[in-house]
Amino acid sequence: MTPKPVTVSTLVAMKERGERIVSLTCYDASFCRLLEAAGVDILLVGDSLGMVVQGWETTLPVTLDDMVYHSACVARARRRGLLVVDLPFLTYATPEQALTSAGRLMREGGAQMVKLEGGAHLLETVRRLTVHGVPVCAHLGLLPQSIHRLGGYRYQGRDPAAGLAILEDAVALQEAGASLLVLECVPANLAREIVCALRIPVIGIGAGNGCDGQVLVLHDMLGLNSERAPRFSKDFVAGHDGLAAGIAAYVEAVRAGAFPGPEQTPY
Ligand code: KIV
Repeated sequence: MTPKPVTVSTLVAMKERGERIVSLTCYDASFCRLLEAAGVDILLVGDSLGMVVQGWETTLPVTLDDMVYHSACVARARRRGLLVVDLPFLTYATPEQALTSAGRLMREGGAQMVKLEGGAHLLETVRRLTVHGVPVCAHLGLLPQSIHRLGGYRYQGRDPAAGLAILEDAVALQEAGASLLVLECVPANLAREIVCALRIPVIGIGAGNGCDGQVLVLHDMLGLNSERAPRFSKDFVAGHDGLAAGIAAYVEAVRAGAFPGPEQTPY
């Protein structure tokens, strides 16, 4: 029997019930099948593929063609998980460009939602996308596409003014129409405040275990990136018998609220 597909309403209902949402990045059909077998709710074709698949230092060289290609690879195998796909660097600099880029991800790549990085300057873009039927996942906190402006992969929102700015951006993005928010590398207390302030689900990565759900870069949690894996991540394959068991352990740990623990929550 075909499982019931995950939709935005499924995720909102999970948030309301306090049931944790599980997400992982996914870049091809084989891993899509493994992730779905373990019950992963959101398959994120992240532009992190530039680093873990293509071998670049940052996500900036990733093109829209690359994202369409990997999204289509996942879409062909996807049965249940919500397929969220990153708009890569400088493919949504104006609302018009965002519409054209999102159109390609959805038509050619089978994306069901697009993700974009940034706050207040994207409100018009988010409005334009949603009004045209493109569901949007916002991304705040550490923004890997702005790495050269930020000067490094550091936690964001650690002082009260910066934390308040992220909270205000999150509320504004929700009001502009975003259906989901990824919060990357912010202190756990700030993430909790944002979760309480929003109706839409908040998926954390390096944001403590008070979020509505968690996401990790697949290669980090499979232990394939041990030299560069961030401290908020964890190798779930170590101590388990193979990839499927490692992924199942991650799903179970997120659902139980056991991941991330204090060791993966530096702030
Ligand atoms: O590109 C990606 O993998 C992401 C996650 C880090 C959330 O955006």
